Amino acid sequence: MALSNRLKNLPPHFFASLVRNVQEALSEGRDVINLGRGNPDQPTPPHIIKALQEAVEDPTTHGYSPFRGTAELKQAVADFYKREYDVHIDPKTEVAILFGTKPGLVELPLAIMNEDELLLLPDPGYPDYLSSVSLANIKYNLMPLLAENDFLPDYSALSDEQKKQAKLMYLNYPNNPTSATATLPFFEETIALAKANDIAILHDFAYGGIGFDGAKPVSFLQAEGAKEVGIEMYTLSKTYNMAGWRVGFAIGNADIIEAISLLQDHLFIDIFPAIQRAATEALSGSQDCVDELVSLYESRRNVLISECKRIGWDVIAPAASFFAWLPVPEGYTSESFTKLLLDKADIAVAPGHAFGKYGEGYIRVGLLESEDRLKEAVARIEKLDIFSR
Ligand SMILES: Cc1ncc(COP(=O)(O)O)c(C=O)c1O
Repeated sequence: MALSNRLKNLPPHFFASLVRNVQEALSEGRDVINLGRGNPDQPTPPHIIKALQEAVEDPTTHGYSPFRGTAELKQAVADFYKREYDVHIDPKTEVAILFGTKPGLVELPLAIMNEDELLLLPDPGYPDYLSSVSLANIKYNLMPLLAENDFLPDYSALSDEQKKQAKLMYLNYPNNPTSATATLPFFEETIALAKANDIAILHDFAYGGIGFDGAKPVSFLQAEGAKEVGIEMYTLSKTYNMAGWRVGFAIGNADIIEAISLLQDHLFIDIFPAIQRAATEALSGSQDCVDELVSLYESRRNVLISECKRIGWDVIAPAASFFAWLPVPEGYTSESFTKLLLDKADIAVAPGHAFGKYGEGYIRVGLLESEDRLKEAVARIEKLDIFSR
């Protein structure tokens, strides 16, 4: 049976080959320190698990759930945005519940774009943004995220043609893979560009819950006029270690939310109501677990960065997310350095070019191993004798 063109054109999943290489090394009995993943290593907090257990025991969760999410979860989303960001959200018209944000990111172009229209994507960026390009049969252009611009897109580099053609733009701060953060003035500049050129904005706030040194990442919706031009997507995967539960949400512009909800009416019924209750507990219950998680990642960051500096590796400490974006040493490419680390030091990392052309020259390291393992990883790199102090 032949695949549809839409599936044939899907981008190859780069991380499949990374996982394969790591599996191969593990099967040879090697002690691989895997810093290549983006999967949170901590369990879901107990009060959220308890909420799920209780909800599962309640037969009212066993039938079909209402289309478009439970009123209870949508209210919890609105309360969460008010409490965390002082943003007012109408739970009835400005919230769509998602099966995690990955499906939402793929659905959005299907919901609001027509064939051959233009999507602007960051480079480097989360590779799954590209899935929507072939599924929705649209065009895309890449916006370079450069170190000299603090890994923010330079809108003055967009041509008049690009601004005229673009229907939608994706942004993501704190950023995967660069870990860069955005500022309110940057979002205000984005909104002005969007209004002047009629471009819808999607801000992927997947790492919104993880900011270091007491600095809370800024929500796009905190910027004046954001709801007039776009939406934000938030996932419970990272803030609450719920990646396997598949729950997130989109909030903001009511027309875009309606478009996503309409598409979802035809694709799904809804998330298991018991999971929606647990998600409600995550957003509304004690947030101590989030503070603890952030300080765990912050300590790991401190260990990783101070160890890298100790061996003479000139790195910049991430201010948010659970990734560090480290420059490869002179004489190496992202690919050759990644290979060297796996072959000679049993360390897996994600090579920067897997996230786009402008990721070349970097590797992405996850803060998803214990402090001891991070220290051990840098000690192994030290033995390769690459850096001079
Ligand atoms: C930038 C970014 N956006 C979205 C996602 C998707 O998260 P989920 O589908 O678990 O909500 C991820 C996951 O790694 C991510 O890194």
